[in-house]
Amino acid sequence: MARIHNFSAGPAVLPEPVLRRTQAALWEYGDSGLGIAECSHRSALFEGVIQAARERITRLLHLDEDQVVLFLQGGARSQFYMWPANVLRGGRAVYLNTGRWADLAAADAARYGTVHTAFSSKEAGWDRVPSPGEISSAGDGAVYLHYTSNNTVAGTEFSQIPDAGGAILACDMSSNFLSRPIDGSRFGFVYAGAQKNLGPSGVTVVIVRRSLLPRMDPELPAMLQYAKQVERDSMLNTPCTFGIYVIGEVCRWLEEDMGGLRGIESRNIKQSERIYAEIDRTGFWKGKVARSSRSRMNVTFSSGDAALDTAFHTSAAAGGLSGLKGHSSVGGLRASLYNAQTDEAVDALVEFMRAFEQTHG
Ligand SMILES: Cc1ncc(COP(=O)(O)O)c(C=O)c1O
Repeated sequence: MARIHNFSAGPAVLPEPVLRRTQAALWEYGDSGLGIAECSHRSALFEGVIQAARERITRLLHLDEDQVVLFLQGGARSQFYMWPANVLRGGRAVYLNTGRWADLAAADAARYGTVHTAFSSKEAGWDRVPSPGEISSAGDGAVYLHYTSNNTVAGTEFSQIPDAGGAILACDMSSNFLSRPIDGSRFGFVYAGAQKNLGPSGVTVVIVRRSLLPRMDPELPAMLQYAKQVERDSMLNTPCTFGIYVIGEVCRWLEEDMGGLRGIESRNIKQSERIYAEIDRTGFWKGKVARSSRSRMNVTFSSGDAALDTAFHTSAAAGGLSGLKGHSSVGGLRASLYNAQTDEAVDALVEFMRAFEQTHG
């Protein structure tokens, strides 16, 4: 069977060498005689797998000794409430409302304290992220500032880390995790669902600071307490062992095959610039967001005609380019170019956009 080009926003394309190794590991991991999805999470074998994944993420993001990498379940969305439930405790949090997921995260936080919206592009259809000077001050005493580094639905991305003032910096990095060099040690809290840049769905990477644990709510149910998850190395219950294995392999691919985050960034820039150049070439295609906020991961665009957009993604799918339909809440078109996206897929998309324009322009 020939594989088609996959532009899905997640679960998304994975690197071929990782899929090949995983295929073999499902039958037998190393020379253990066991398939990777069949061995106990309490075994020395799996302890090696989770430890390696943790170490690779720590290295790639330059985390410091206070930061702990966890592999939790419930998706990135569970972190929308788990984080404020632990740390907000009636206090004030600052949110940057730059997209659908940021909006939902803020709504969950409001259950545990006061939410101050320091920037919102919601009224304009989340068409941009703030420039550094545009974030209103939350005054003194905010517990944390939360932002979404890449807005998967709208197709916008922060190119700089916002200034959190004296507050803890918290970030939903789900859709651009490990896609560019970043100083991870600047963050107090990071989370990312795996199914975009990291692996299969079912596991969420969470990075917390040990030094913050004493101020967290000790009355929460055990599964919701970061302190307990840290104490038990993400194994308070049975973790998503297979997903953690794939995350480790994806990180290995980044480190050993792609030249780390600098290497993958340059590929991500090239691929996204090719699609944006095609969008800007004649005016037939329209980008959906402000140019300065354009995402390298999720390129959103439209012909300006809903029926033509539908014709585009359905005929693209028939021609072997899948997943180009925009999110149901916004319509239009979206090409997701996560780390594992191939240059061949990008070439094929550019060619298809051009041919479509010739026929319909
Ligand atoms: C930026 C962002 N945050 C959170 C989520 C929710 O992730 P999950 O489905 O893992 O809960 C998504 C899903 O697409 C997302 O793109």
